[in-house]
Amino acid sequence: MCGIIGYVGSKPAVDILKDALTRLEYRGYDSAGIATIADDTLHLCKDKGKVAEVIKNCNIDNLPGYTGIGHVRWATHGGVTRDNAHPHCDAISQIAVVHNGIIENFEALKSRLVKKYHFKSDTDTEVIPHLIREQVDAGLSFEEAFFAAIRQLQGSYALIAVSTLADGKLFAARKDSPMVLGLGKDANFIGSDVLSFLPYSREAVYIEDGECVVMTKNTYQIYDLNHTPKKRESVAITWNLSEAGKDNQDHFMIKEIKEQPFVIRQAMMQDTRLLNRMAIDILRAHQVIFVACGTSRFAALIGRYVFSKIGHTFSDVVMASEFGYFSDSVDKNTMVIAISQSGETADVMDGVKQAKAKGATVYSIVNVEGSSLARMSDKALYLSCGPEIGVAATKSFTAQLCLLYLLAFAMDGRLSEGKEKLLEISSLIEKDLQTNLSEISLIAEKLKDKRDFYFLARGINFAMAGEGALKLKEVCYVHAEGMPAGELKHGTLALIEEGTPVIAICPTDYTYTDTISNISEAMVRGATVIGISNANQSIFAEWIKIPEVEMIFYPLVTVIPLQLLAYHSAIVRGFDPDKPRNLAKSVTVK
Ligand code: G6P
Repeated sequence: MCGIIGYVGSKPAVDILKDALTRLEYRGYDSAGIATIADDTLHLCKDKGKVAEVIKNCNIDNLPGYTGIGHVRWATHGGVTRDNAHPHCDAISQIAVVHNGIIENFEALKSRLVKKYHFKSDTDTEVIPHLIREQVDAGLSFEEAFFAAIRQLQGSYALIAVSTLADGKLFAARKDSPMVLGLGKDANFIGSDVLSFLPYSREAVYIEDGECVVMTKNTYQIYDLNHTPKKRESVAITWNLSEAGKDNQDHFMIKEIKEQPFVIRQAMMQDTRLLNRMAIDILRAHQVIFVACGTSRFAALIGRYVFSKIGHTFSDVVMASEFGYFSDSVDKNTMVIAISQSGETADVMDGVKQAKAKGATVYSIVNVEGSSLARMSDKALYLSCGPEIGVAATKSFTAQLCLLYLLAFAMDGRLSEGKEKLLEISSLIEKDLQTNLSEISLIAEKLKDKRDFYFLARGINFAMAGEGALKLKEVCYVHAEGMPAGELKHGTLALIEEGTPVIAICPTDYTYTDTISNISEAMVRGATVIGISNANQSIFAEWIKIPEVEMIFYPLVTVIPLQLLAYHSAIVRGFDPDKPRNLAKSVTVK
């Protein structure tokens, strides 16, 4: 979604804000902008384009002052234009606002405000500076005006305001969009996530829904919407700066793919008592429902298999955006397991809120510490895989699988055995990564001009077909479908023609014979079959070899070539895999 940052301190704001926007860019890269306050004047630079382009084209370096706000945009209301880029200002350029979220009542507010003030953009956000202006014009101080304006907003927002009327202070408010305050030396920060201010702060204060903050460089005060002060302790930031860099790799995506053997070992370091406690609660629940989106949903689909195969427990997976339509069957005996890398995905949060309202127990599997989902859950397990910055999820998926395996083994009273097995897998993946790297880039080159891909698999591997197709769609902008191999003949086979690439995920497990027979049906109709298997087959035009492992663990070894195929395909097609068009890492609107 969008990324926001605010800074007040003793260093030039523009330097800090530029750096923060570069680190927030994974949240949106349609446009970017910065506003600072100096000498009773508001200074503004913004444009469409990626952060580096906006910095280069906009004379951003000339912005003076020690207080400022910045924004990276992922458009929701209004096209990608300079006027729609944030910050947005009031009509006489004294107040500037950056915002992540959606103001649902903006049309009603705008129809009133437009009679008094000139609007420049098509965004929902622009009502906010005009609302504050209206209150200032009515005689309120800036601080009172800010609170009065926020109380009129409906929808979701994490927003920060600066003004020439506000003595260099920052004002911020949150509802249903992430926001965290960072405490520094002679400086305070407020942003969408800790990554935005990671080099400057080791201490964070998480802002809750319905709260506002007023900050100077040495102080901060949290309030509720009625302007009543609240207290909140700060917490230490555990992520370190080196984890947030590219580590000499060309892209975050490949760096994060290569980290996966380590990620498995790291994810295993869970609190054993917590895992066992959660496993017992899952076994006691009358029904278990996974809720997730995107890649996290494919992890949940594998969770369903391992809960059944190892934990002997039936569960179901509901796409988070569809969860509300099933909430009639959720009650206090339901266990909802929400899976999310960011812990901020609006669809997941919405599902969890509905489940909680029905009395369900909510456990979550998240990466981002202190995220809204983690804080809202009854218990949370952390992926501990460090920040994932590539928009297409890779290492977080593997860490999610690890935790699901651990829970399943704990459900069967075999947690230590599960850990040993995962450790072996991590070594196998480490070796496999070396061999697969160059081989897969050659296959990607051969498939460079193809526009339609079919990923086929059965059983536990079916979710991998879905994840493999999703990765390719995300970073290569081609049509890719992942489906159960047996389903191909019931319609999709009509699309197979000479040279259509079919990626077959077919290790020699319980799915092997039937999958091979389905792939043969495609092959005789002209498909070029790329087999991902531990054993070669005459029907494979290309064979991507994976190590032989116990059946239940094949998803952990098939995911690596699938991710590498997507990565190399993006590279040979000239796309930036870290910033796929139209997508954002963390989707905080419904
Ligand atoms: C977005 C991202 C996907 C991700 C999905 C779920 O759509 O582009 O890559 O899988 O959100 O994200 P989460 O943070 O909830 O795992």
